[in-house]
Amino acid sequence: MGFLMADLNLRVTKIETLTSGIKSFWLESGDGALLPEWTAGAHLVFTLNGALKKSYSLAGDPAVRDHYLTAILREEGGEGGSKYMHDVVAVGDILTASQPQNNFHLAETAKKHLLIAGGIGVTPLLAMSHTLKSQGADFHLHYCSKARQGTAFADEIETLFAEHVTFHFDGGDPSKGIKLNEILAQPDDGQHLYICGPGGLLNATREAARHWPDGTVHFELFSSTRSDEEKQTIAQAAQGDQPFEIKLMSNGKQLAVPADQSIFEVLRDNGIMLPSACEEGWCGNCVATYTAGEVDHRDECLDDDERKTQLQTCVSRAAAGEVLVLDL
Ligand code: FES
Repeated sequence: MGFLMADLNLRVTKIETLTSGIKSFWLESGDGALLPEWTAGAHLVFTLNGALKKSYSLAGDPAVRDHYLTAILREEGGEGGSKYMHDVVAVGDILTASQPQNNFHLAETAKKHLLIAGGIGVTPLLAMSHTLKSQGADFHLHYCSKARQGTAFADEIETLFAEHVTFHFDGGDPSKGIKLNEILAQPDDGQHLYICGPGGLLNATREAARHWPDGTVHFELFSSTRSDEEKQTIAQAAQGDQPFEIKLMSNGKQLAVPADQSIFEVLRDNGIMLPSACEEGWCGNCVATYTAGEVDHRDECLDDDERKTQLQTCVSRAAAGEVLVLDL
């Protein structure tokens, strides 16, 4: 489990400006050793500026172990993680990051893979494309962005994946972009879909794939897709939260989760550090497996199938007096 793994110290060895808003970062181990293994779809949780936690997906080839590659869009809003990476971090700096975490796996049993990337959401899908190509798998990447000029890794992706990739440039008007209803009309037998990109594309893709079989649609969020009103309603409803219990499978310990604390906080206070970043239920980092109890799921990142056995500890709760048994 993630809470047993030590953080990594990664040396920034190269920074490239890919587009006017996107930079890529090469990261090597501080002591020159090979980096921990990872699988396509994984990300690192960076602790920036001593406290701020931000997840960035790995974009390179998982078979390459001497460096990690990530690419980051500089965002004006938000908590400043991307601004820090763009404006402060320099070659030679050492960054603290988690071990690679993966909540966005390629489905091992899939016969065919359809990947849809929006903008900087291409990063985990680029890693997936490397793996799928090396496996000789049947896959296709649809890469959506405004214009070729602002499209990170466009040349590299075209060269590497040639007939496996289609670019969709909409000039800023989504109605001129990818035709989701056509592309997703008829899932092939054993086909799985992977989406990563901005909320609008993600919601539209999930809507257009509503008829795909359960468990075949996978997605990774870069931010919450909830509106401010929805967030407000959720915050108001949280006033009525009740205390409940969690039980740890490893030692049988039962812990109380008070009305004003999350499972994540109670675990942390008891020495169990799960990875975390958003603490709002969308990044997927703080996931835990549970084996008993009825969960009040409040995340945005798990699908119905995953929710049968997993929960996001930063937001999900249970009814008063319920005992959730966690595989921790
Ligand atoms: S920390 Fe992001 S989902 Fe819990």
